[in-house]
Amino acid sequence: MSTYRIRFLPDEITVETESNDLVETRDGLPGSILALALKNHLEIDHACGGVCACSTCHVIVREGFDSLSEASETEEDMLDNAPGVTLQSRLACQAVADGSCDLVVEVPNWNRNLVSEGH
Ligand code: FES
Repeated sequence: MSTYRIRFLPDEITVETESNDLVETRDGLPGSILALALKNHLEIDHACGGVCACSTCHVIVREGFDSLSEASETEEDMLDNAPGVTLQSRLACQAVADGSCDLVVEVPNWNRNLVSEGH
């Protein structure tokens, strides 16, 4: 078990968690970036409810990319449809970190309007 942090950009909201805290929410894989964001009242758009059937939860992992679970073929197919995809792109509902390092995750413009204020 290790403690790691996810810093969400551009809002500079940092979430601290344990690698074995596979937080379950209604949306996204347990312990996924989306699940951790939602648990901490940080809203990332997730139109399909976190079942890897859209690309609205697209985020760009600026640091710590290699500590994330491998992307499935379905995730990669979905990402192909996402605007602004980069080599560091992941679907937040599918990416689960192993906790070996901290993450910096950028929520792109089009997902950003929903990020809750005042947290
Ligand atoms: S919420 Fe639809 S793929 Fe992540």
